[in-house]
Amino acid sequence: MEVFKEAAGLAAQGRRIIRMEAGEPSTPVPRIVRETAIAALNAGPIGYTQSLGLPSLRARIARHYQEVYGVPVPAERVAVTTGSSGGFILAFLALFDPGARVAIAAPGYPAYRNILEAIGVEVVTLSTSARDRHVVTAAMIEAEHAQRPLDGVLLMSPANPSGTMMDAATLRDICEVCARLDIAFVSDEIYHGLTYGEPAQTALAFGDRPVVVNSFSKYYCMTGWRIGWLVLPEDLVRPVERLAQNFAISAPTLSQIAAEAAFDARDELEAVKAGYAKNRALLMEELPRIGLGDFHPVDGAFYVFTDVSRFTNDSLDFCRRMLNEAGVAATPGVDFDREHGSSAVRFSFAGSHEDMVEGVKRLRDWLPRA
Ligand SMILES: Cc1ncc(COP(=O)(O)O)c(C=O)c1O
Repeated sequence: MEVFKEAAGLAAQGRRIIRMEAGEPSTPVPRIVRETAIAALNAGPIGYTQSLGLPSLRARIARHYQEVYGVPVPAERVAVTTGSSGGFILAFLALFDPGARVAIAAPGYPAYRNILEAIGVEVVTLSTSARDRHVVTAAMIEAEHAQRPLDGVLLMSPANPSGTMMDAATLRDICEVCARLDIAFVSDEIYHGLTYGEPAQTALAFGDRPVVVNSFSKYYCMTGWRIGWLVLPEDLVRPVERLAQNFAISAPTLSQIAAEAAFDARDELEAVKAGYAKNRALLMEELPRIGLGDFHPVDGAFYVFTDVSRFTNDSLDFCRRMLNEAGVAATPGVDFDREHGSSAVRFSFAGSHEDMVEGVKRLRDWLPRA
């Protein structure tokens, strides 16, 4: 977010900055979503909804699991939240007491640690590397649990920043080991829909104990609308409802109405995804040619997390110089991995193809001097 702020500042001064730092789609929200929101605004007052969300949206989300994964999910287990970010807070508070131990992967999404630590949870890091495809395995969880018991495991697939995806067998094994050892498993599935080979499997295919977190922010291009959802085990629905009633009363109503329409925008959203696929292909081919080829081939999401150790061991300084000298914004690896991230950088390819071409050109010119 700091690089984002600095890049926005330079852009405001009139410099053309190639924005490869932001983890958000650069395309407008699908037409049917906009039209649905406008019609709702014109139709009358926008009041609160029930704390777990508009019943029709909860039902539509539940149907999505049947349609996409063939997994039946009752609407009563769906909670609509203020982005997946709001969902994390509710789920973590419902699941964990202060002092609980929760494992996350490194590199990983930085807010996990920050939110967990803010509510007094001890965060345990499971380190991964490009050589092992950045995948956490059931064996790693079991080994950590044997050292000192874990209360929870929080993983995402496809992952930010690595773009790696667990195959279905790995996910199944993780669900099984967590169920057997009585460890709560939280599966962040926010990048589902954005895969470039095999589609992603949901943890819900392997039982009803996992807490699934998802959002309209990424595949559905609705970051600023702040709508996400949780699928909860039955016994967590009421605790989450009570927390939601007190924290936010309800997620933004206009956004909930609009989000329901997003499920009918498949063609437009698939076209956006085809744009990411084209950007991904460009970066997969060009980054190795300019010395940035040490990354795990991206299965999903819209990021390349690449090693830059031949240029620097201070990724924050590297990103600052890259922004100021080359006009290319990217995110330093230290954000995602405190221990090993100082020699890595994340490039987002959610921008336009034209920007990706220009970004590669600028990097090619700049890197020999870096
Ligand atoms: C892995 C992951 N989870 C959750 C989020 C939060 O998204 P939102 O709150 O917009 O749903 C992000 C945002 O970048 C993310 O990368």
